[in-house]
Amino acid sequence: MAFSLTVNGHRHTVDVAPDTPLLWVVRDEIGLKGTKFGCGAGLCGACTVHVNGQPARSCSTPVEMVDGADITTIEGLMSEGQLHPLQQAWIDEGVPQCGYCQSGQIMTAAHLLANNPSPSREDIVTAMTGNLCRCGTYARIVAAVEAVAG
Ligand code: FES
Repeated sequence: MAFSLTVNGHRHTVDVAPDTPLLWVVRDEIGLKGTKFGCGAGLCGACTVHVNGQPARSCSTPVEMVDGADITTIEGLMSEGQLHPLQQAWIDEGVPQCGYCQSGQIMTAAHLLANNPSPSREDIVTAMTGNLCRCGTYARIVAAVEAVAG
């Protein structure tokens, strides 16, 4: 069945089963590998993308639910060849350890700052609670978000 999505500003039509997770559409049909598979059950946040500006767990979002939607992935945060300020802060603060969960972490942080440009530390911790990191980079994640926040 055909579904149309706008991903990072580009229109795509994919022919997949309606229950195909958005994660696999993004990775395998569209070829954007920055969005990661962690738990596959909506629990870890590694697969976070934005759907119409809202964070969503792409592993548990069937493509039929996002037909016609505007999707942003980690690759789409860059603009005009420049890293998003959060991506730069992640580098400057040396946030990642293994790095696997970090694209999902950044997508959640980007949504926070888009809605609250000057979050408190508590706001940041609360917003990031649903994104798990087995390496325990949480303190550096907070520092990187604070570096970008006004
Ligand atoms: Fe989607 Fe864990 S892989 S929430």
